[in-house]
Amino acid sequence: MNAVVFEHVSLAFDDHVVLRDLSFTVPKGSMRIMFGVSGAGKSVILKLALGLLRPDEGRITVNGFRVDQMPEVELLAMRADIGMVFQENALFDSLTVAENVGFRLLEEHDLTDAQIDGRVAEVLGFVGLDEFADRMPAALSGGQRRRVGIARAMASKPKLLLFDDPITGLDPLIAWSIDDEIVTLRDLEDVTTVVVTHQIRDAFYIAEHRAVRRNGAVDVEKVDASEVEGVEFLVLKDGSIVFQGTAKELLTSRDPYLQEYLYKTRPPW
Ligand SMILES: Nc1ncnc2c1ncn2[C@@H]1O[C@H](COP(=O)(O)OP(=O)(O)O)[C@@H](O)[C@H]1O
Ligand SMILES: [Mg+2]
Repeated sequence: MNAVVFEHVSLAFDDHVVLRDLSFTVPKGSMRIMFGVSGAGKSVILKLALGLLRPDEGRITVNGFRVDQMPEVELLAMRADIGMVFQENALFDSLTVAENVGFRLLEEHDLTDAQIDGRVAEVLGFVGLDEFADRMPAALSGGQRRRVGIARAMASKPKLLLFDDPITGLDPLIAWSIDDEIVTLRDLEDVTTVVVTHQIRDAFYIAEHRAVRRNGAVDVEKVDASEVEGVEFLVLKDGSIVFQGTAKELLTSRDPYLQEYLYKTRPPW
């Protein structure tokens, strides 16, 4: 069963063609890491998956629903099962950090206040913001606001997470803790993840780490990418997917565009 299916999707804004006959699938429980230069159409793909944009042609199926055809009211319900982190994070300015993160949990009526508070504290801990629970968004830096958005997306433990450049602009230690959390959700919670990024280092970190539970604690350990199942890279260029494959296949590709892209973006040089 697939969590996300794009079939022959095309989209243009006026005469600017952004996606051409694009097809890919994201099997349930797997991870897709999507690269592409700025303007390639990465954010557009995530917005199409959420039904925030509609394609000119093609079919888009998410969690079994044809989102390209769904009426807006049904889309709202469908999005409740998806955690999303946008590049430009819209927080509610009149709510505290904790209220922003717990917002969707309040709608899940089977949770007690104590359970909601516990989960909010837990995810704020993941992103290093446990001390900031009572602050207002206006009193946060850009990077901190991003981390609140990530915590909010994770709070309800959705089975499908869409990350739009979650790491960019964050300091490396915070980035790693978020990477570890993404790995943990994938390996221990069976979450399906699409990570859009141009941070190649973080993409390979995610592909080369595995979360394991030992004696009740979660360890994130370095492994060979081939030992991590279900992770594939997608590279988007000129409206099409020019590469799909494993980390190893990407690194050994003879394609001149991929070689140059990796050389310029992947440390160490
Ligand atoms: N709502 C819109 N109206 C017009 N053009 C848009 C819109 N959204 C995106 N685009 C254009 O589509 C292209 C892909 O955008 P985007 O998906 O945001 O790129 P990125 O890969 O950097 O995320 C860009 O050229 C952008 O200007
Ligand atoms: Mg983008």
